[in-house]
Amino acid sequence: MTSPRKILVTAALPYANGPIHIGHLVEYIQTDIWVRFQKLMGNRCIFIWADDTHGTAIMISAKKAGVSEEEFIARMNEEHQRDFGTFQIAYDNYGSTNSSENRELCGRIWSALRQAGLIVEKDVSQLYDTVAGTFLADRFVKGNCPKCNAPDQYGDNCDKCGSTYTPADLKNPYSTLTKTTPEIRSAKHLFVELEKLHPFLEQWTQSGEHLQTEVANYLKGHFLGEPLRDWDVSRPAPYFGFEISDSPGNYWYVWFDAPIGYMASLEQWCQKTGEKFNDWWPQRIDAESAGVEIHHFIGKDITYFHTLFWPGMLHAAKFKLPTRVHIHGFLTVGGEKMSKSKGTFVKAETYAKHLDVSALRYYFASKLGPRLDDLDLNPGEFIDKVNSDLVGKVVNIASRCTKFVQASGLSANYPEDGGLFTAGVAAGKEIATAYEGCDYARAMRLIMELAASANVYIDGKEPWKIAKDPARAQEVQDACTVGLNLFRQIAVYLSPVLPKLAEQAGALLNEPIAHWKQSQHPLVGTKVAPFSHMMKRLELKDFEAMIEESKESGVGFQPAQAEGTGDRGQGTDSGDALTAEPLVTDLISIDDFTKVDLRVARVINAEEVPEAKKLLKLTLGLGGDVKRQVFAGIKAAYKPADLVGRLVIVVANLQPRQMKFGLSEGMVTACGPGGEEVFLLSLDEGAKPGMRVH
Ligand code: MSP
Ligand code: ZN
Repeated sequence: MTSPRKILVTAALPYANGPIHIGHLVEYIQTDIWVRFQKLMGNRCIFIWADDTHGTAIMISAKKAGVSEEEFIARMNEEHQRDFGTFQIAYDNYGSTNSSENRELCGRIWSALRQAGLIVEKDVSQLYDTVAGTFLADRFVKGNCPKCNAPDQYGDNCDKCGSTYTPADLKNPYSTLTKTTPEIRSAKHLFVELEKLHPFLEQWTQSGEHLQTEVANYLKGHFLGEPLRDWDVSRPAPYFGFEISDSPGNYWYVWFDAPIGYMASLEQWCQKTGEKFNDWWPQRIDAESAGVEIHHFIGKDITYFHTLFWPGMLHAAKFKLPTRVHIHGFLTVGGEKMSKSKGTFVKAETYAKHLDVSALRYYFASKLGPRLDDLDLNPGEFIDKVNSDLVGKVVNIASRCTKFVQASGLSANYPEDGGLFTAGVAAGKEIATAYEGCDYARAMRLIMELAASANVYIDGKEPWKIAKDPARAQEVQDACTVGLNLFRQIAVYLSPVLPKLAEQAGALLNEPIAHWKQSQHPLVGTKVAPFSHMMKRLELKDFEAMIEESKESGVGFQPAQAEGTGDRGQGTDSGDALTAEPLVTDLISIDDFTKVDLRVARVINAEEVPEAKKLLKLTLGLGGDVKRQVFAGIKAAYKPADLVGRLVIVVANLQPRQMKFGLSEGMVTACGPGGEEVFLLSLDEGAKPGMRVH
């Protein structure tokens, strides 16, 4: 017998700035299946994981939620773990990158990089938001594309013409945090000179089984053909992260400390269990003797970090390198990228409210191959596949056999079954190979073939018919013994994907499923528990309700506590609006204010301007026959017919402006971020056109 392997597995650490969604679940279910498979085979396998908690985005989310970063990430950690529990994702330790273990390990690896002479200092010019008092990461800057002039493009690339650039190239840049114009400031950053590791990275990525072939080729074609650029690993304050010990005022960039978080979580697990860190993540020199494998599961978007930066860091710090990085593609829904407005950006929590968790685990498994192709969640296919495979084939075997052996139990000897069980044993080898190679789609196909032949067998025996003839009792018991053994064999094979079904199958036949070997020998002479419901048919209407709910609630930077507190009329209001547009700090005198002539006006007429996407043309009456024509950017928020007759507040002494569509003689006041979210100011009963606002 071969001795058990020792395997350390990680999945990418989810960002602590938002909830788990069904895209994440592709990876986390994939990883969980692999880990469960390894454990089932009798290997020592641990799943080490954590939240990724540092960086600008989390700083901003915490501020929006009105809590400290520590409190924000603590809540997210709890929420994430709750979701993983719901989806039966079973890890051995769940840590946080904001832990003392991580700080310590970052320091160690940092010193090693320093000692290896890989760190250099350079000045970096970056856009700085003077109101928020922070440097702006690319995605917090928008402006007009320098190539095609498309408005509202992010700081790194244009989604209209596809060109890439740096934020400083944007025309009319503005900070998305404060909507103010940022200025360019220079600051010292620390870089890793990756090029010095080029020969090592060339060798590591292009040899052995570390990467899928297509990944190795992609790296060779896109990065390794030319000098590797220095990697910017520091950010100046303010930054939520770890301050660099030998560079005060500078912090490790989130992507520096995130993968070290794998090690930090391992360290916590070791403290918990009394295991030795060095036995699981040895220094390179001891790697052979420790005999441990390290497997990372990640999505294709973070390939670069895990196949160049991370191996480079490990190499320089003389740690064992990953045995393999398993990379998967992206989830689409109905053939399209997940979208908040279409309701396809579904939170894990929302999915579980409407649909069966096992169904998603099975469906993802049936779509996951060893390559990097994207996978699609197609509503119709999802419903059909789960109903026909799991309900129609697998559970159907048990539900058709159980009743007739309730009293008798299974036959004392395994009956002649036409070679079905043995064929199942043989298929088991192929199924195991498919699991090992992450070809779950193939494993599921092979298992469903077994389920199909089991059903053919039962159809042929018709136990429900022969059970009526007392003389054929033995025949009934034998047929059901075969049926339930085939069911159990399938349940063992499916158990990495469907732990709940395996548990139910174990309870049904009075022997918990815990080992792959159980699929290799039939059970005889045991009691059979009453059949309990295993899986309900899925209905499209539940899927639709899930999409509908996802449309309403949206996902993303919502503060975690929004559901529990405030915002309901009786509590405190959230600070979101103020964060989006902070209070102006420049004070004005009363004279400054009175320069603005604000007046009550009645909307006499409102009409669309066909050529203008955002504008309505309003005719405002200020009393008597004093009228003003004003163009207001409120088309997305108001229908012309709803405006006529109401009172608004207008800036009456604004310099008139000649527009393409006519003269605009004032400005209607409103609040809100824009688009559909524009709210006109209204007046209490009694206000009359022409009154001045003081
Ligand atoms: N925090 C980093 C990972 C750090 S690892 C040291 C990160 N976090 S993430 O929350 O954005 O993504 C976590 C994982 O989920 C990534 O591997 C990512 O590829 C995966 N997915 C996120 N959206 C996905 C889909 N729509 N489809 C499939 N996987 C997806 O990246
Ligand atoms: Zn462009």
